[in-house]
Amino acid sequence: MGRAFVYVILGGGVAAGYAALEFSRRHVAPGELCIISEESVAPYERPALSKGYLLPENPARLPQFHTCVGANEERLTPKWYREKGIELILGTRVKSADLKKKALVTMAGETITYKYLIVATGARALKLEEFGVWGSEAENVCYLRDIADADRMVNVMKNCAGKSAVIIGGGYIGMECTAALVTNKIKVTMVFPEKHLMARLFTAKMAEFYENYYKERGVKFVKGNVLTSFENDPSGKVTAVILRDGTRIPTDMVVVGIGIRANTSLFDGLEKGGAKLALEKGGIKVNGKMQTSDSSVYAVGDVAAFPVKLFGNDIRRLEHVDSARKTARHAVSAIMAPDETGDLDYLPFFYSRVFSLSWQFYGDNVGEVVHFGDFPNSRFGAYWVNEGRIIGAFLEGGSKEDYEAIAKVVKTRAKVSDVGELEKLGLEFAFRE
Ligand code: FDA
Ligand code: NAD
Repeated sequence: MGRAFVYVILGGGVAAGYAALEFSRRHVAPGELCIISEESVAPYERPALSKGYLLPENPARLPQFHTCVGANEERLTPKWYREKGIELILGTRVKSADLKKKALVTMAGETITYKYLIVATGARALKLEEFGVWGSEAENVCYLRDIADADRMVNVMKNCAGKSAVIIGGGYIGMECTAALVTNKIKVTMVFPEKHLMARLFTAKMAEFYENYYKERGVKFVKGNVLTSFENDPSGKVTAVILRDGTRIPTDMVVVGIGIRANTSLFDGLEKGGAKLALEKGGIKVNGKMQTSDSSVYAVGDVAAFPVKLFGNDIRRLEHVDSARKTARHAVSAIMAPDETGDLDYLPFFYSRVFSLSWQFYGDNVGEVVHFGDFPNSRFGAYWVNEGRIIGAFLEGGSKEDYEAIAKVVKTRAKVSDVGELEKLGLEFAFRE
């Protein structure tokens, strides 16, 4: 049993959707392209799952947020794929790859061959069990990576209005799910090992603003601590969490957001006879054209580790939607129009929205931090200055023009001759450049 395609996209997430759009723009012929996805629905904008999807009123539901609405592009519904002759092979997990035969084998035993393969397998949520904590399969413990997880969380939340939740992890999932739970009238305690929220990106001063904002909405923080075990009722439901220092927090539900692992296992060569691609930074290593160590195979999105020109071609694996969209489109362009496609010149871009707050970040957060703006009134930011140049910028509560301005100073690595002056000028500095 087998099928042959010219182009195969392995994975059906954000990157897959944007790759399909680019293939269509470049006039892929009907029958040449397929997407194989373990998920049972066509690619969608994953960020909606921790935002609109969890709203108590008028929540976002498919088909509203199929890709590529996130960048105001066409919305690729199942009908769109049918009309373009792009095959969606859904609910299908690929279990092995043979790079010599250019073939993938699905769990159902079907062999699918390709001339070009784009690996867009994304990442999976880390489980508590990987840190030696058991019991996260309980019905009121939630993770959040895909739409099935989100549906589960919505159901658990429905039974918890007016009750309490513990959120494990102080990163993106922790912050965004806390906001969603509070909006659903659930009392939240956040538990995380670091000194402050979003330690990977925020400075202590920035985190203090968000923590105060959350506290005003009733959120409690337990910092510098981790979960060590659960207490359960006779039906198996979690009734309390126990922390490393012995603290016991009674709870009606738990949300876990403790990071991700890129889905590289099909290509890490660890299984006997398994395919092997070069790996780096926990992902599949690619060049500036998103091409892996096998010239017929490309990798994009969360699973790809690629050279960032702006950082001297340092290899980075980014876990954000903008990079998934752009690396996907670049790979397709490199495959279909190799002569007109150079190396990707990507400006790292992250964003988040919680309650009525919203921020954007561009570049890298290393070097000297220069805060600016009006912290109490939710309009503030920070520059990161390294060797006399701006290499990162963050802004909360900006307008479209403000965000464009900070992106530009990072992209051009604007020169800073006087840090005091930069602090005084703040956002104005970005408009003067
Ligand atoms: P993605 O995870 O989207 O897709 C991978 C696909 O591959 C899935 O369909 C999976 O089932 C499939 N797959 C994996 N292995 C397979 C196999 N062996 N066989 C078949 N299929 C397989 N970013 C941001 O910048 N701003 C934001 O606000 C948010 N918000 C956000 C919320 C939530 C809840 C999550 C989980 C993530 C975000 N992100 C985000 C991150 C962003 O969504 C993420 O970077 C992109 O989804 C990455 O896109 P990919 O296509 O690489 O992976
Ligand atoms: P994260 O890396 O943002 O945060 C992980 C957090 O887990 C850390 O801040 C830490 O507090 C905590 N942690 C780590 N080990 C722990 C342990 N053993 N016990 C308790 N806490 C522990 O990851 P995440 O929040 O799980 O997000 C998952 C992925 O989803 C990331 O790739 C993220 O980029 C993506 N995402 C992005 C956005 C966005 O960009 N707005 C929103 C949601 C999710």
